[in-house]
Amino acid sequence: MGVSKTGSLDFQLFQFLRFLNLLTLINYLCFRISLNHYFYEMNKLNRVYFIIGVSAVGKTTVGKLLSQSLNIPFFDADDFHLQSSKQKMADGIPLTDDDRRDWLLIMNKLAIDQSTKNGCVIACSALKKSYRVMLQQHIKSPVKWIFLDGEFELLKQRLSERKNHFMPISLLQSQFDTLEIPDDAFRVTVDLSPEQINIQILDELSKSEIGLFGLGVMGKSLSRNIASKGFRLSIFNRFVAGKEENIAVKFQKEFSELSNVKPFEDLDKFVKSLQHPRKIFLMIQAGKTVDKVLEQFLPYLEPGDVIMDGGNSHYLDTEKRIKFLNENGIRFLGVGVSGGEDGALIGPAIMPGGNWEAYDSVGCILESIAAKDSRNKACCEFVGKGGSGHFVKMVHNGIEYAEMQLLAEVYHVFKYGLGLSNDAIAKMLSNWRSTEADSYLLEITIDILQRKENGVFLLDKVLDKAGNKGTGNWTTVAASELGVPISVLTAALFARYISAFKEMRVEASKVLSADRKVNFMLDSETIRKAYQLARWVNHHQGIHLLSEASQTYQWDLNLSEIARIWTNGCIIRSTLMEKLCDYLKADSQLLRNQNVVKIVKQSKDSLKELVSNAIQNDLPIFCFSEAINYLNAYAQKDSSADLIQAQRDYFGAHLYQRKNDSSGKQYHSDWNPNQNS
Ligand code: 6PG
Repeated sequence: MGVSKTGSLDFQLFQFLRFLNLLTLINYLCFRISLNHYFYEMNKLNRVYFIIGVSAVGKTTVGKLLSQSLNIPFFDADDFHLQSSKQKMADGIPLTDDDRRDWLLIMNKLAIDQSTKNGCVIACSALKKSYRVMLQQHIKSPVKWIFLDGEFELLKQRLSERKNHFMPISLLQSQFDTLEIPDDAFRVTVDLSPEQINIQILDELSKSEIGLFGLGVMGKSLSRNIASKGFRLSIFNRFVAGKEENIAVKFQKEFSELSNVKPFEDLDKFVKSLQHPRKIFLMIQAGKTVDKVLEQFLPYLEPGDVIMDGGNSHYLDTEKRIKFLNENGIRFLGVGVSGGEDGALIGPAIMPGGNWEAYDSVGCILESIAAKDSRNKACCEFVGKGGSGHFVKMVHNGIEYAEMQLLAEVYHVFKYGLGLSNDAIAKMLSNWRSTEADSYLLEITIDILQRKENGVFLLDKVLDKAGNKGTGNWTTVAASELGVPISVLTAALFARYISAFKEMRVEASKVLSADRKVNFMLDSETIRKAYQLARWVNHHQGIHLLSEASQTYQWDLNLSEIARIWTNGCIIRSTLMEKLCDYLKADSQLLRNQNVVKIVKQSKDSLKELVSNAIQNDLPIFCFSEAINYLNAYAQKDSSADLIQAQRDYFGAHLYQRKNDSSGKQYHSDWNPNQNS
């Protein structure tokens, strides 16, 4: 008795397999249709996809499928091998790094070229990290590494079935020996069909390229900036019942550029929405919150994932976090971001420091959202290892404090010294905008001076107690620890501190306030020259601090490049910064630069005049007076420190060196006349 044809076991299996294939096809078609718009968007960014792995993993087949799905060109690196290399491999001799160098550079050039068009898919073994670095260098578009991973035996089997290929089976082992498994790639095992592998890759590519955590003012602006550049983005804001509910969802609906953004308040789902390696930008309050959030993230992260801290964190905290996360294979970047809410939206200055490899995978996003300098280069560049990114941002803020205070002192000289109205001061300062004194802070000061509320100057209603969030304090502490005299920056900090004691000042003014003479003999040009010179001293001190920190912590900071980053997007962007960027190529001691020496010679009398006028008229001028003092001390061949050394040796036997004794010998003397006699 026979079993009917449709009832046979073989037939049922056949039907089942056909059904599976159909499902795969439907699945695949759905992907292509639903992701059409997305891939169009992605292609706008001209992404480069490298399909990598040892021979016989199916790089060419999968690469071709992917290129069809994405509708971009495909290139097989095998077609670009030199004939001599192909011959070598055919003879069973593995290629060396030297053999591969030129080939990799050719592939890199091709990738750069394609990244300026529609992007492309490249199949290339790229076995070592150093090869991948070479392949990726100078590509300004996003690069995605897709690693096809296969068992040795399976690949050996495939190779044995392969015809007309120069790669013999004998070289497979050498490929496995050379392979450095990437931890910054999306990994797919190759025991599936090429179509299924392609579906997995498309699934991965449909996820977000970056996640932004924390939708405060800066986080929101940065999200809009990232999304508007065409990056796939997930955003997260915590859930706090009654206070912060559905923040991400509501925000996502607010702006059209966020239409493709995925909003979350569930951490697990947020992390799962991201491509591998996960790239997460924290925009949260600096301090303990950062550590708490990192602890929350840890269970969801994998080696190779990248976390960026975009807050004003202390550089020593950043150093600790790098070490802590590194132990778990997670890469961390301390990212200084400057520019406030508007800057974050239209292009901030970005100072990333920490793990270089992490920068490799996020640099393209950061550089794309950053402000551009006068040559259209991104105001973002990897600053150095460790906490250097946050250190540089901290010094930026120190300079910012003094730039603000100098303007505040100018405003008071005009207001109380020369008796000008806010309007008139704004007019004076507007004239400065066509000179080298121009800056973003000058620009906003002019706006502030003119702003009226109900017919009254708004500035006159503002309570004169300056706040601060700590970065100026940290700059001063760091400078003290490193022994760098940043007196103008410190004076700005202390000016804020004394302002904060409003009640104390009010009381003191009743008994100590001198009758202001208001007899200023100054014109606007003298004030401008004094102001500009004081700014040079301020910048000189800030750069000096960076230079000493770079040496002490072996950060190898490029000072001119840091000044370039500061030429746009940040709060201290200015005409002066453009010059600084140029002058720092020659010497880190700005006040020695011949152009600055010329300014000192032309403007020092103005600075002296302003300071003496202010002191004669009982007007506090913290930063201006420190600037002239510093200039005098900086240029003083013989300082009064000989007496300090003698005093130290007198009461503490602290020893001293003698002039004209280059041996560095330390002396001690009996200074006390009573002991001598
Ligand atoms: C910037 C600013 C910013 C800083 C504010 C407030 O570069 O965008 O420096 O990071 O937080 O200026 O600082 P203070 O409250 O200390 O003045």
